[in-house]
Amino acid sequence: MSRFEFVKWSKYFGGFVVVVLGLSLWGASDSDWELESMKPNLRDKDSLQRGLGLYVNFCLGCHSLQYRRYERTAKDLGDIPKDLMLENVIFTGQPIGGYMKSSMSKEDAKNWFGAAPPDLTMVTRVRSPKWVYNFLKTFYIDDNRPFGVNNKVFPNVGMPHVLLPLQGFAVEDCFGYEAVDLLELESILREKKLEGILTRTDRETTFEPLDPSKLREPNCPELTTIPESGLYNEEQFDQAAYDLANFLHYMGDPSREIRMSMGGYVIGFLVILTILAYLLKREYWKNVPKSPPRVRNEHTSEL
Ligand code: HEC
Repeated sequence: MSRFEFVKWSKYFGGFVVVVLGLSLWGASDSDWELESMKPNLRDKDSLQRGLGLYVNFCLGCHSLQYRRYERTAKDLGDIPKDLMLENVIFTGQPIGGYMKSSMSKEDAKNWFGAAPPDLTMVTRVRSPKWVYNFLKTFYIDDNRPFGVNNKVFPNVGMPHVLLPLQGFAVEDCFGYEAVDLLELESILREKKLEGILTRTDRETTFEPLDPSKLREPNCPELTTIPESGLYNEEQFDQAAYDLANFLHYMGDPSREIRMSMGGYVIGFLVILTILAYLLKREYWKNVPKSPPRVRNEHTSEL
């Protein structure tokens, strides 16, 4: 290949790379749902402890935190005593020094959910605490999905709405769902038979041009939780989602809190060191005249 041809083809190759990169980034932004703001607070040990409690009860069954140990977590989250941890947090019979692993095998999980539940140690570093908070808050009833629920932040997610007993039933507001009998909802949802329980009024649908039997729904921007359908009210559920996201933020970088407080000391030390160095410099230069003394030129005897 001549040099000219090489330059010509490398230009096309460069274009190809840009297009592929662009497409993959486009695919990565999976939803246009507007995320509610959320500021994690690692000093709030109560929130982190509640997050740990919720996590081991509702998430650890599927999602490991395989790079973190129970012991270190207990210490960082306010020196939780060992027997309290063994009694209330470690359900898998592991020792306190063990990694926080789920007992579900990857193979089984993949068969059951279509995608194996990922390890969540780093999830807030890859996504963000805000993303996780919004993800947990935006599950809603969707009878077209295998688990009867869908998610606004992660559309068509393969995860069931595990916090449903706490939150209750969230529905898309635009379609005017009406709950018929709340007491029956849970057992029916368990059997994945949602028809007849939620009646849709004024449902807006459009037809795909090529496949008229397939219904496509416009992306509804509003979710409403049916009151009294969960153990928690809206405020309590928001707090639970916050505590979980805050806890996962801690998990992503357990030394962050220590590092940030160390940062203050290090800057203070450097400031004091600078002042001392300046004073020392002044002391050294005190007796040195500003301009060098004139020296008689040996050859000309001139000054
Ligand atoms: C019954 C098993 C199960 C339980 C329990 C469960 N999840 Fe999941 N979760 C999944 C599966 C499966 C996926 C992967 C979904 C996919 O890729 O479509 C997932 C995905 C996620 C993701 C997205 C990860 C990513 O970056 O792609 C987050 C965040 C998450 N789960 C958080 C939680 C939290 C927090 C809890 C506890 C409140 C929890 N999950 C409980 C099965 C579970």
